[in-house]
Amino acid sequence: MFASILLLCVCVVFILLQLKSRRPKNFPPGPSPLPILGNILELSLDNPLKDFERLRNTYGNVYSVFLGTKAAVVINGMKAVKDAIVTKGIDFAGRPQDLFVNDSTERKGVILADYGPSWKDHRRFALMTLRNFGLGKDSMEERIHGEIKYITDDLEKSIGKSLSPQLMFHNAASNIICQVLFGQRYEHDDEFIKVILKCFTDNAKLANGPWAMLYDSFPMIRSLPLPFRRAFKNVKTCQALVLPVVQEHKKTRVPGQPRDFVDCYLDRLDKEKGNDASTFSEDLMIMYILDLHFAGTDTTSNTLLTGFLYLMTYPHIQERCQQEIDEVLGGNDQASFEDRHNMPYVQATIHEIQRVANTVPLSVPHCTIKDTELMGYSIPKGTLIIPNLTSVLNEEGQWKFPNEFNPENFLNDQGEFVKPEAFMPFSAGPRVCLGEGLARMELFLILVTLLRKFNFIWPEDAGKPDYNPVYGVTLTPQLYHMKVQLRETN
Ligand code: HEM
Ligand SMILES: *[C@@H]1O[C@H](CO)[C@@H](O)[C@H](O)[C@H]1NC(C)=O
Ligand SMILES: *[C@@H]1O[C@H](CO)[C@@H](O)[C@H](O)[C@H]1NC(C)=O
Repeated sequence: MFASILLLCVCVVFILLQLKSRRPKNFPPGPSPLPILGNILELSLDNPLKDFERLRNTYGNVYSVFLGTKAAVVINGMKAVKDAIVTKGIDFAGRPQDLFVNDSTERKGVILADYGPSWKDHRRFALMTLRNFGLGKDSMEERIHGEIKYITDDLEKSIGKSLSPQLMFHNAASNIICQVLFGQRYEHDDEFIKVILKCFTDNAKLANGPWAMLYDSFPMIRSLPLPFRRAFKNVKTCQALVLPVVQEHKKTRVPGQPRDFVDCYLDRLDKEKGNDASTFSEDLMIMYILDLHFAGTDTTSNTLLTGFLYLMTYPHIQERCQQEIDEVLGGNDQASFEDRHNMPYVQATIHEIQRVANTVPLSVPHCTIKDTELMGYSIPKGTLIIPNLTSVLNEEGQWKFPNEFNPENFLNDQGEFVKPEAFMPFSAGPRVCLGEGLARMELFLILVTLLRKFNFIWPEDAGKPDYNPVYGVTLTPQLYHMKVQLRETN
């Protein structure tokens, strides 16, 4: 009896040793992985930031961890990050495909699509479409100004009172994208937008949480009815919601005269008819729309929320922005994106807001598409890559004031706006945020219009502001209230 148990134990240990994850030759260093589990026991699943800090201090700017049996390389600091995602951009332009997200997105969409013809075609198509709809032209600005009107109406109703701006900014960001995608806005209690938001928020949480990590690490549990299955259901729910909107567009559109993104895509499908190699399809369009909506909502609204948190608690910066805005806009009835060139201080402030907001701290995971090298290490094809944007946005040596909120970070001695190379809240390289142009236009027009009209005041009874963000795929500031006053202009 004892002998057979011993034999069994030996066998188990032997199998485990076989399963032990090993670092490939010349791979970036990191903690020794356990069999099957890798390093996940060393990482706090809810907020692993502290653990990563410790690993970086021990192993340097480029280190590796095992999430289960899968190796991931974390890249810190501008030099290494830039070398990977810009200089060797294509080598690092993949997205991990054997993960939870692959199964939940069915490989469609663009954010998580792997490097390849479909991603390329769709990325080019989106950039072109966003531009034709006015990035650089007026109609996009008009759409944004249209939405700003709803914000100013909300704020006017709250003059002298204190309000919680979370929902307001979230709606604005969501509706600007909806205008671009569907040519339509939705009230925040509209079922359509409410359900989409709920599903996507839930999926982002799932993707970021322990269940996804377990799903990735242990293939044998994937078919069990565990919480990660909810993600698949969420995606189906969203697809079912968007489908009728697409049907409606098909009925009402005039080919060649697109009203919005959906119409553009339908035009494109017409053009691709008969092309067997085409990567465009209706299924893909639906995931793509959902991707764009998701990518453009929380990111923009969290940046705005961070912006107002700082503008309220650094009133002298708010005032200086207002002065510059008054000077440049004079009697014009509304700001235009072009005005930014005459507003170096406002530009610097917005960039500084993005720097401290650090909205997407670890970017979106990349993946190597071939064997490559980084900072003297060998990195095989298919390695999960985590570019640490935080480590660039607050790196000592790259900024005049890395640990302060200070627009001087973006101003030279002459008070002109300058953008240091380490400014990469949108990431960089071939995968750089596709909505950067739109996002920058939104941030500028919203901030300028609101600061021109209102003063934003930190309520006296709100205590000390807490600048520590809530950890997640995107960082959100702690809930706060703001007080608004109408400005007495000119
Ligand atoms: C302040 C607002 C925003 C921030 C900070 C932000 C940041 C980012 C970051 C860090 C990435 C990952 C890039 C990489 O993988 O290296 C990304 C990707 C992406 N963003 Fe944004 N984003 C913002 C707004 C938007 C908006 C408004 C849209 C929609 C029009 C958008 C659409 C996308 C898409 C589609 C991708 C995936 C690109 C690809 O994989 O090729 N983003 N964004
Ligand atoms: C990213 O960098 C920041 C700041 O340097 C650090 O606190 C954090 O732990 C890093 N995250 C990872 C995953 O290495
Ligand atoms: C990713 O998902 C697709 C479709 O669901 C599947 O066919 C493919 O095998 C998956 N890829 C990996 C590497 O798991």
